[in-house]
Amino acid sequence: MDRYAVLGQPISHSRSPKIHSLFAAQSGAELRYEAIEVAPDDLDEHLAGLHATGYLGLNLTLPHKAAAVPLCESRSERAERAGAVNTLLRRERGWHGCNTDGVGLVADLRNLGVPLAGKRILVLGAGGAARGILEPLLAGKPAELVLSSRNPWKPEELAAVFKPHGPIRPCTHLALKGDRFDLILNATSAGHEGEVPRLPPGLFAPDALAYDLNYGKAAEPFLTWAQGQGAARGIDGLGMLVEQAAEAFQLWRGVRPETAPVLAELRKG
Ligand code: ATR
Repeated sequence: MDRYAVLGQPISHSRSPKIHSLFAAQSGAELRYEAIEVAPDDLDEHLAGLHATGYLGLNLTLPHKAAAVPLCESRSERAERAGAVNTLLRRERGWHGCNTDGVGLVADLRNLGVPLAGKRILVLGAGGAARGILEPLLAGKPAELVLSSRNPWKPEELAAVFKPHGPIRPCTHLALKGDRFDLILNATSAGHEGEVPRLPPGLFAPDALAYDLNYGKAAEPFLTWAQGQGAARGIDGLGMLVEQAAEAFQLWRGVRPETAPVLAELRKG
């Protein structure tokens, strides 16, 4: 049987096994997709072990996306620039690292009818999750993409890397005061601790959308805050999760699954 897995810590909450089993059912494929809890110190050993056992593909989630980059035998250009991998493809001598997060996000925004061209976008957080989405967002030709975190250094570093791809400006959360955005994306991990980044009020333009890259409980603090701040709509990252999974499935098996029925099924609970 073709074997796949997602590695993370924690991993018990992951919806990926369900998503991939629904994708497999669409095409009648026989495959096994497991969720494996892996501590950061054990990642290297697990990647080697799963390759030796014959796994065909892996997904990586928190906290492994950046740590796995140097452990891959090769990487796509996009993963290289993102400095993060979420999808690994089996190659003869090791793993080929890809990043489908950004493509997944943009696909979900397209499904939701959210335009990017000419819009003002704010990305909160400058860790691995943010890195993975900057290039595909800039490809949507926004008027400006502002990248902000608590201190200026990480946004400055990332803005320098992604400048060739479009108008990106680094910022601190505090310095956002007075700015307004059509789309605010939460790419911080604060929601996992039940927190929201400390932000000035008044950031949402009329009709603005709040989007949390997290889903489930971790998305609640930011979306609740956004609603209180007058965001017209708040969306969690479940659609992005399904779209990045579809992209991974296609890379592994050459078939693009239908995402809408899978997302509808997951939303049922
Ligand atoms: P990932 O690799 O998943 O992006 P990360 O690098 O640990 O995760 O964190 C992503 C972002 O979450 C970071 O940018 C971090 O902000 P800073 O750059 O300001 O440190 C942000 N973050 C984590 N906890 C936070 C909190 N409690 N409040 C605000 N931002 C937080």
